[in-house]
Amino acid sequence: MQASAQAQPNIALIKYWGKRDVESNLPAADSLSVTLDTLWTRMSLEFDERLKQDTLDVNGSTAPSMLARVSHCLDLVVGNARAFARVQSSSNFPIGAGLASSASAFAALVVAADQAAGSHLETNALARLAGAASGSAARSLFGGFVELTAGDETIEVREIADSASWPLEVIVAVTAAGPKALGSTDAMIRSARTSPFYSSWLERQAADMEIARQAVQQKDFAKLAAVAEHNCLKMHSVMWGSRPPIVYWNQATIACMETVRALQADGHSVFFTIDAGPQLKAVCLPEDGDYVRAALEQTGGVIRVLQSGLGPGARLLEQV
Ligand code: PMV
Repeated sequence: MQASAQAQPNIALIKYWGKRDVESNLPAADSLSVTLDTLWTRMSLEFDERLKQDTLDVNGSTAPSMLARVSHCLDLVVGNARAFARVQSSSNFPIGAGLASSASAFAALVVAADQAAGSHLETNALARLAGAASGSAARSLFGGFVELTAGDETIEVREIADSASWPLEVIVAVTAAGPKALGSTDAMIRSARTSPFYSSWLERQAADMEIARQAVQQKDFAKLAAVAEHNCLKMHSVMWGSRPPIVYWNQATIACMETVRALQADGHSVFFTIDAGPQLKAVCLPEDGDYVRAALEQTGGVIRVLQSGLGPGARLLEQV
C-alpha cells in the first residue's frame, strides 16, 4: 500500500504544443524529447483507509493547489473506489517555472501509485496515465531519447536511443524563479483558437519529427541542432501570434540565445530550446558542457545554471 518512485524531467526537442482533445489531454501531434539525469522528483505515497481525503505535501509544505490534479491522476491509475492517499513530493529543482516539473512529478506519481495499488501496468499504459495529467509527463516514463506518437484516441511512447548511446548534456539557464503567469493548457487552448500559425505548425510537425529521428539515429549534432531550434522558434511564433499574445521570454532569455549564437560562431556544438517559461535549455556535446555552462553563468540576468546528462525513465525507489 506504500511506494516511492523517482522520475526526471524531459526536455522536448520537437515540441508538443496543442491538444487533439482537451478533456482526455491527447496531444495534437508527435513530439521527441530527452530525459534528464541529475534533476529529479521523488514521490512517496501511501493508501490509507483511515484518511478522509487525499493529502499532498510538496517539498515539505502542503500544496492544495496541485491536489485536485494529483487526486484525479490517482483515480485514473487505481480507480475511484480507492482508499485516500498521503502523497509526498520533493524535487531538487524549481517547480512550476517552465522546467518540466509536472512531467517528472506525474511520471513518478503513476509509477508509485501502480506499485502501491499492486496493479503492475506496463510502461506504455503508465505513460498514457501520466500523459492524461500532463502531456509531457508521458515521455518521462522512458529514458534517453523518447518519441511520443499521438494517435486519434491514444498515444504510444518509446525510447528510440538510450542515454549511453549518445550522451548529450543539457545546461538549463534559470532566468526567473517564480511560477509562470499562464499554464501550458490555457496557453495551448488559446494558441489553437487564435493563432493564425497554429494549423501550419501542426502540418509541419511530422516532417520535423522525421529529421530529428534521423539525426538521433545518425548522431548528427548539426542536423538535430537545426531542427530543434527551428521547431522551438516555430512553437513560440505560434504563441506570439495568439491573441492576447503569449510571451514567456524575458530579457535574459534573449541574452542566453545570443550567448548560444556566439558559442556556435566559435565552433562549439550547442543549440538552445525554450519551453513554456523563460528558462533557456542549451543542449551540447559533453566536451562542450563546462564551457557552455560558464558562458551561460556569465550571461546577464541568469539566476543560476543547472547541468545534466541524459538519464533513465521513471522507476521505483527502495523504501526508506
Ligand atoms: O505537459 P505540459 O502540459 O506541461 O506541456 C508542455 C509543453 C512544452 O513543455 C512547452 C513542450 C513539450 O513538448 O514539453
